[in-house]
Amino acid sequence: MFKPKGLLFVVALLSGLLITPLHHANAQESKTASGQAQAQPSDEAIWQQWVTWLPSAPPVDTPAKVYPQYRSSLISAGTSAAEADRQILIIRRMMHERSDAWRIIFNNVYASSTPNFVTQPNALLMATVEGLKPGRALDVGMGQGRNALFLALKGWEVTGFDVSDEGIAVARKNAERAGVKLNAIRETDEAFDYGSDRWDLIVFVYEPFPVTSTAYVERLRKSLKAGGLIVIESYGQEASMPNRSPTAIDPGQLLAAFKDLRLLHYEDIVTRPDWPLPSGEEKTRVVRMVAEKRP
Ligand SMILES: C[S@@+](CC[C@H](N)C(=O)[O-])C[C@H]1O[C@@H](n2cnc3c(N)ncnc32)[C@H](O)[C@@H]1O
Repeated sequence: MFKPKGLLFVVALLSGLLITPLHHANAQESKTASGQAQAQPSDEAIWQQWVTWLPSAPPVDTPAKVYPQYRSSLISAGTSAAEADRQILIIRRMMHERSDAWRIIFNNVYASSTPNFVTQPNALLMATVEGLKPGRALDVGMGQGRNALFLALKGWEVTGFDVSDEGIAVARKNAERAGVKLNAIRETDEAFDYGSDRWDLIVFVYEPFPVTSTAYVERLRKSLKAGGLIVIESYGQEASMPNRSPTAIDPGQLLAAFKDLRLLHYEDIVTRPDWPLPSGEEKTRVVRMVAEKRP
């Protein structure tokens, strides 16, 4: 005998109401720019096409500009605007999980002679260390070293890592020019060993890592010395926001995630970010936090 749930299933199936699961997306079709039907590529195929295209991308002064460029290139190659938008959404989601594309994009950004991000040290970091006794600092995703170099010049013993070869090369060159020691390592976040009870300060600004996940918070908390500080800044965007930046932090989740640390500073404001967004808007929501591992 049919149970009511089973009956509903059959009725839905017969009337074509069942929603196609996401992993069946490969079997779906979309339209080309000229209106012809085309099979939708798998997420993996979309990713491979993206990382194959990236090295030939025109130089960008900020990573955000690479997505509109790729969208235009897809459309010029005959992909419909709707399919191009779908692929960009998939790519932006996958950017959370993979580092190969970040490496190519940021090598391109740091090689630019006209950077479009704030090349001065981050203002929250400068205010936080004012008057502090220098110790050991870790700069997570140090980029071209604007924050690491600032700390080294202030007498901190600084380690920084980044997936971008170009960023690390610029950071090392600037440290050498300034005559300061900087331990700049070409490494991915996934592979870098944060250690335990190791840092007096961790700098986490505009990073695409899951800073509100339980595992990541534990990794950071464990690696801080008692009394050590963590400085966090990025775009403030709710986790539910569609098309959110891979670098965004959900402000509510941030507060909850670090509740076991002592909150020293918190801001959720609209201001000019250190790194521009793809939309090019001058001001956006930015979240800033400084917290201390309890002694
Ligand atoms: C928006 S930039 C911020 C850089 C730096 N924190 C700053 O504020 O100037 C993000 C940085 O994260 C690095 N990155 C992205 N994914 C990474 C990964 N999986 N491992 C290490 N670094 C990564 C990029 O190369 C880039 O330098």
